Amino acid sequence: MSISTKTMSMPSTPPLPAFYDSLDASLNEAWRLLADGLTDRRAAFHAPVVASIDLQGHPTARTMILRSADRERRTLTFHADNRSAKIAELRARPSVCAIAYDAGQKIQLRISGSITLHLNDEIAHRAWAGSRTMSRLTYSVDDAPGTVIAVPTTLPAPKLDMVNDADSDAASEEPDLVANLGRKNFCVLVVHIASIEWVYLASQGNRRALFSWVGSEALQAAWLQP
Ligand SMILES: Cc1cc2nc3c(=O)[nH]c(=O)nc-3n(C[C@H](O)[C@H](O)[C@H](O)COP(=O)(O)O)c2cc1C
Repeated sequence: MSISTKTMSMPSTPPLPAFYDSLDASLNEAWRLLADGLTDRRAAFHAPVVASIDLQGHPTARTMILRSADRERRTLTFHADNRSAKIAELRARPSVCAIAYDAGQKIQLRISGSITLHLNDEIAHRAWAGSRTMSRLTYSVDDAPGTVIAVPTTLPAPKLDMVNDADSDAASEEPDLVANLGRKNFCVLVVHIASIEWVYLASQGNRRALFSWVGSEALQAAWLQP
């Protein structure tokens, strides 16, 4: 049986993005995706997975909402309950790796850095002041996150009334008493970025790059074999 030599119509390959062969443009795109994650709830970088080492020395990870991405300061921030396991773990080993893959853009970012925790300083006060009522209520429950409970908690009715106002973003108009119920449990986790590893998938050849500030404030950028 002979193999047909008739020309088959091949699916056309999508055009390559401008950042494909540019380290500078890839880093710009990485920060653009992080910025997107702040405003677009459906964006992959809205909720990256943040990994750390637990108190037994084992790897652990959880999804967290990205709250800020500051290119100048080279920081990301996340919010957490100060009583949660991750905070105890991060006090013992203050470094994390945050990772997300945007399937639409075909880009993975793996971001590593050291962290600082903020409970009673300006950073925490400002973050709390900017939080929605719905978010604040999650910090007001009596049991610490991870506590074994007999019955799952439902937010009490008076607090639920506040939830109905949550979409208005009028945090400053709430009665202080309700707004501040969870304040003592709220903390901000700032990731001071040491490196961003970039992966872009393309049929013409994947691209992988490492942007690193390790040991120096100066950016070191290099392509890596994917
Ligand atoms: C979409 C999504 C977003 C989440 N965002 C946060 C967050 O911003 N902060 C947080 O502490 N936990 C967040 N969680 C819950 C964590 O993934 C995790 O279950 C919880 O914080 C307990 O983690 P730990 O035991 O490692 O402390 C989120 C979970 C999901 C599914």
